[in-house]
Parts: sequence; C-alpha cells; structure tokens
Amino acid sequence: MKWIYIEDAGKHVGEEVEIRGWLFNKRSSGKIHFLIVRDGTGFMQAVVVKSEVSDEVFDLYDELTQESSIIVQGVVRADKRAPGGYELTVRNIQLVHRAIDYPITKKEHGIGFLLPRRHLWLRSRKQWALMRLRNEVEMAIEDFFQNEKFVRVDAPILTPSACEGTTTLFKTDYFGEPAYLSQSGQLYMEAAAMALGKVYCFGPAFRAEKSKTRRHLMEFWQAEPEVAWATLDDIMDLAENLIAYIVERVLETRQEELKLLERDISKLEAVKKPFYRITYTEAVEIVNKAGLKMEWGEDFGGDEETVLAQQFDKPILVHRYPAKVKPFYMKRDPENPDLALCVDVLAPEGYGEIVGGGQREDDYETLYNRMVEENMPIEDYEWYLDLRKYGSVPHSGFGIGLERTLRWIAGIHHIREAIPFPRLLEKIYP
Ligand code: 4AD
Ligand code: MG
Repeated sequence: MKWIYIEDAGKHVGEEVEIRGWLFNKRSSGKIHFLIVRDGTGFMQAVVVKSEVSDEVFDLYDELTQESSIIVQGVVRADKRAPGGYELTVRNIQLVHRAIDYPITKKEHGIGFLLPRRHLWLRSRKQWALMRLRNEVEMAIEDFFQNEKFVRVDAPILTPSACEGTTTLFKTDYFGEPAYLSQSGQLYMEAAAMALGKVYCFGPAFRAEKSKTRRHLMEFWQAEPEVAWATLDDIMDLAENLIAYIVERVLETRQEELKLLERDISKLEAVKKPFYRITYTEAVEIVNKAGLKMEWGEDFGGDEETVLAQQFDKPILVHRYPAKVKPFYMKRDPENPDLALCVDVLAPEGYGEIVGGGQREDDYETLYNRMVEENMPIEDYEWYLDLRKYGSVPHSGFGIGLERTLRWIAGIHHIREAIPFPRLLEKIYP
C-alpha cells in the first residue's frame, strides 16, 4: 500500500493509500465514526463505516485516544465539505501506540499550563500553523537575499565582546576567559561585506532582557544584511523590498495557515510599497498628539511604539533618531550631528519594531574617539577598527527579527508563540 502525506491527498483521489499519523480528534454517530488524523503536513477526516470494515477495525474506535499514533488505510475521496477538501474512506486501521491521558485537551488551557508543555503544545492546530508560517518567512528571507545575489556568511555565536551594549549580555566561560553569546552578527557582517560586498547572516541572537513584554525573547532569530557602499537610503529601500516580499510570499503560499490563525488578510494585502517614511522628530510629534507624553531625545517605550504603529496601515520607516539612544557604531547625520543615520521599521496595527539598522561610522578617528568616550575596551575591538584602517567605505545594514515579523504577520498577541521553544525571563523549560 502506498504511504502518502495528507498534503498530497489531492493527487491520489480514488486510490487506496496509507496515512501515518496521530489521532487529533474523533466523534461518532454510532454507525459511522469520524476520525481527524494529523500527519504533520495536514489534517484529514477519516470515515469508518460499520458495514465497510471488519468488526475488529470498527470497534478499535474505543481504543483510539487523542494523540495515539495510527496507520490508516483507505480510499481518498474529494469532498468540498471536508476540511482540506479530501477525506479518507477507511478500510483498515492499525493502532501503533496508544497515548494515555494526553494532557492538552480540547478545553481552553491557560498559558501557565501550556508553556511547560510546549513539546506537546506544538501539535495543536494553531501552533502547527504558526510553525509552518515561520518556515515560510525563513525561506522567503533566504530566497530574497539569494535572488538579490547576497552571500550568506554565518556569524559566530560565541563572541569576545558586545555589539548592542553590555547590559543584556549572556556571559559564559571560554577556557577561563569570559565570552558572550552573540547579540547580533552585525560587526562580523561589516568585516564580511568588505570581503564579499553584499552579505547577510541568519541565526540566533541572545539578549538577557530583564523585562517581561510581548515583544521580547531572550533568544530570537535575526537576519542581518550588510552592504558595502550602501547609504541609509539604500538600506531603507532594501528593508522595504524585503518586507514587501515576505508578505507577498506568505499571502501567496500560506492562506490555509493564515485562515487557521484567523488573521485579517486584508490588513496584509494592504502592505504594498511604498511604505511610510518619517523622521524620529515627526514620530515624537505623532506620539504626543495621540495623547502620550514624551520628550524629544527619549527613546520610544513599548507604549509609544504601539501607539505610533497604530496610526498606520503599512509599515513605517522611522529614521534619524537622536544618536544618544543608539549604539556606538551609528554614523552621525552630517546635517545634524545630534542625529544618527539609522532606521527602525515598525509594523502597523500596533505591532511595533521589527527592523533596526542604519549607516555605520566609517571614519577611524571618529569611531575610535566615540569608543573611548563610551569607555569601551578598545583592545577587544581592534579587529573592528581595522576595517576603518584598510580601505574604509560607507556601508549600511540592518537586522530583521524573525519572531517579531512572524508575530505581526500571524497576528498573534505574544511573541512566545512565534518560536518553537521560547526562552523567556527565568524560564528555560522544556
Ligand atoms: O534593533 P536591534 O537591537 O539591532 C541590532 O541588533 C543591529 N545590530 C542589527 C543590525 O544592524 N545588523 O535588533 C534588530 C531586530 C529588532 O528590530 C527586532 O526585530 C529584533 O531584532 N529583536 C528582538 N526580537 C525578539 N526579542 C528580542 N529581545 C529582540 N531584540 C531585538
Ligand atoms: Mg532596535
């Protein structure tokens, strides 16, 4: 018998096939049992009719508990009413392993119950859809950069120094020396851009964020392009193109998942270029007009970002923040040295920042002096300063947070569901 995946059922209408999976749900009218089977690629209804199977197979129904693993044989039928469009008329069922007392039932469970059971929670329908969407976003990011002829360069995870400030570093021991889990691959991408022109890395980043929010993870994934000779404007165009591509791709390929997540598709369909571009100064005015109080020079907090992002129906590129609230590597605006040549992209509908980046300081003296001013351990960054000694060029880049982007696209409340195994404040199980 031919073993097929549920997502391929449409290619086997009328054929007798085998599905290998788990029992998701069941109900019965007495003479007909309805089993919802999931196999990782989809969900399918299998119909067991008393007159069409042996008594043994028909009576197996009582043994079939939620999440028991089963092999089901039967004939694929097209049925418009069936979820997915196809169902299986069962000939035979084999119970492979009987699950006893699966903890996640159809009733509503609280997050405190679900999080420690993340290893099982992933089997739920919504989580299934989220992980498939995540995969699509990851592949879209890869394809975008590959189509644009970027070279993927993998950044190290163990690093001798900080990229995004020392307050959120995870420290570890490296043969008696301190080492840190990478907060960002950026500094290494700057080196790689001088070797390869257009590069990106895509991997995990670590931040010991000491606050509990719906946007912060301790471990998240970031794609970070870096482009030699690119200015702030160039990199803003790149971010806009990337985000537009991701959304378009997801709309094209992941309608089923978006539907399961009850995402309002029209909101995503509106995400077409050009996006909005405003300065930090304009953004502060908008926030104040919306009723929040904030001074020029402060960074946006979670509330300010939410309010700002609620005013727009497309992503907003906020550029030229006060240099004081941004890291040491940002190039200053030649027209106003209090400003950094940087950009944050905020997702609309209140979701907030998904991208951060900008143009890098490429002058040796300026960068060196700033690092001294900020009391940075210069000896750890000699290699980074070297890039300004040997053929320095203007260059720019950004980081896009995978889970932030997915949270927005999927329309979910909390970022913890956007990653298979979230690392949260003081929580690392499972
Ligand atoms: O704005 P961030 O801190 O910028 C950087 O790390 C730069 N070095 C990137 C670069 O220019 N190459 O982080 C970039 C993005 C944020 O916009 C956000 O999407 C995500 O990474 N991010 C987080 N996502 C989840 N949890 C956290 N704690 C995050 N911190 C940043
Ligand atoms: Mg940022």
